[in-house]
Amino acid sequence: MNDLFGIIQSRRSLRRYRPAPVPQASLRRLLTAAAWAPSAHNRQPWRFVVVQSDHAKRRLAGAMAARWLEDGASRGRVVQSRQRLDDAPAWVIFCMTLADMDDYPDARRRQAERDMAVQSVAMAGQNLLLAAHAEGLAACWVCAPLFCPEVVRDVLALPADYEALGLVTLGYPRAEDRARTKERYPLETRVTWR
Ligand SMILES: Cc1cc2nc3c(=O)[nH]c(=O)nc-3n(C[C@H](O)[C@H](O)[C@H](O)COP(=O)(O)O)c2cc1C
Repeated sequence: MNDLFGIIQSRRSLRRYRPAPVPQASLRRLLTAAAWAPSAHNRQPWRFVVVQSDHAKRRLAGAMAARWLEDGASRGRVVQSRQRLDDAPAWVIFCMTLADMDDYPDARRRQAERDMAVQSVAMAGQNLLLAAHAEGLAACWVCAPLFCPEVVRDVLALPADYEALGLVTLGYPRAEDRARTKERYPLETRVTWR
């Protein structure tokens, strides 16, 4: 258990990577950790899309960058975000499908069911981030796909029900980035005891 807390507390979002590829066996361990996350009704509404080819990464990063510019993002930010994506040897795109979730006649319960699917995929994401850290890999959750799920679906020719919620960039960390620290607000400012 101490190991688990150590892993949780020492994980950081690392955004720069060495060019070495991520071994297939590591990717499979990470994806297995993700797939063991809890999920609403155990429906496992996640779909993981692994992107490693330079061609696919360039096409999707380019298409998402075009969308950010259309949305009014500054060119400097877009160039930096795109560079980080391009430099990551592997991405895991976290998609959600509602295909196996319950359907309801009313909007309130439909939204709650959808939220449960989103929560389930987010839990898979955290499992993968922790597994990556335990494996000695650098990783960062990137929200860009959330803003243009149809772009992700089109560029990668994914099934119509795949809705991209985010992606995790993966690679081996640069030595100088490993010791990055980040603060958290004091617990008492975030907890209510009753
Ligand atoms: C939902 C979500 C979206 C995020 N989106 C991005 C992103 O688009 N780009 C990025 O560099 N980091 C992103 N992050 C990483 C956060 O910036 C990071 O987790 C936060 O600053 C805390 O730092 P730490 O992960 O090193 O503890 C995201 C994290 C979450 C949970």
